[in-house]
Amino acid sequence: MAEINVENLKVVYRGVILALQGVSLRAGAGEAIALLGPNGAGKSTLVRALSGLLPQYDGRVLDGKIVVNGQEANHLPALKVAELGLTAILEGRPIFRYLTVLENLRAAAHKLTPQRQKEITDEIFTRFPRLYERRFEQGGYLSGGEQQMLLLGMALLTEPRILVVDEPSLGLSPKLTEEVMRVLNELRRDKGLTLVLVEQNARAAFAIVERVYVMEQGRVVFEGTAQEAQADADVMEFYLGGAVAGGFAEAKRYRRRKRWV
Ligand SMILES: Nc1ncnc2c1ncn2[C@@H]1O[C@H](COP(=O)(O)OP(=O)(O)OP(=O)(O)O)[C@@H](O)[C@H]1O
Ligand SMILES: [Mg+2]
Repeated sequence: MAEINVENLKVVYRGVILALQGVSLRAGAGEAIALLGPNGAGKSTLVRALSGLLPQYDGRVLDGKIVVNGQEANHLPALKVAELGLTAILEGRPIFRYLTVLENLRAAAHKLTPQRQKEITDEIFTRFPRLYERRFEQGGYLSGGEQQMLLLGMALLTEPRILVVDEPSLGLSPKLTEEVMRVLNELRRDKGLTLVLVEQNARAAFAIVERVYVMEQGRVVFEGTAQEAQADADVMEFYLGGAVAGGFAEAKRYRRRKRWV
């Protein structure tokens, strides 16, 4: 039984904007998949749908099915989805900017016993020594990479089985992006997590996932292994052209702009 199973999902915003037009995908237990695609493809919409957050964005599921850990989750509120073991880190690094690192972590740990909270916080500081150094600093003063580590720490405090991460590399240098991917891969391996990685940086994602889905305009336009995606010239050039650094000409960038903006 797949941990996440999405069938023919249609999502609409404000009752009129069809953002997902029948998306199907799955992630098995312990599997890492990537969701790739250009701006506006519907990646974050899928993340919101999975995590029960669509109502906050004036969106709703029109049709289709979401099954999380064997349970239908279409219309579950976010808290119930979290109880199924799914934790999502949303796009844009939503930390509490005026709370310190420690306070952010405490806020994420409200459901744990003090003992468990301490164990996991110790683990977080061991994994991310930089966060320990900055534990009394306000979240808003952390660098992008440190904020991403803080978010991962906060996610660990929810003891997830399924981790959904929306564009963790956004705005990070190549070096920091690599660091974030390494950490995600380690977490996944150490904890047997199922990982859904949403990325525009396809190359970074290929390094740590088994399978990829490429979305465009609310549809899945490619599904295959990371190797198959990389071997598919159309996928690489047309859908992921801007996302794979180097080698692609400016002319293609122009073509993408015409298609997607
Ligand atoms: N709250 C909203 N209200 C109305 N339309 C929305 C809302 N959020 C997203 N959309 C629209 O839904 C479509 C999919 O957006 P979404 O944010 O899911 O794309 P994305 O793949 O995450 O893009 P990006 O790479 O830019 O983050 C877009 O056309 C977008 O304009
Ligand atoms: Mg997005």
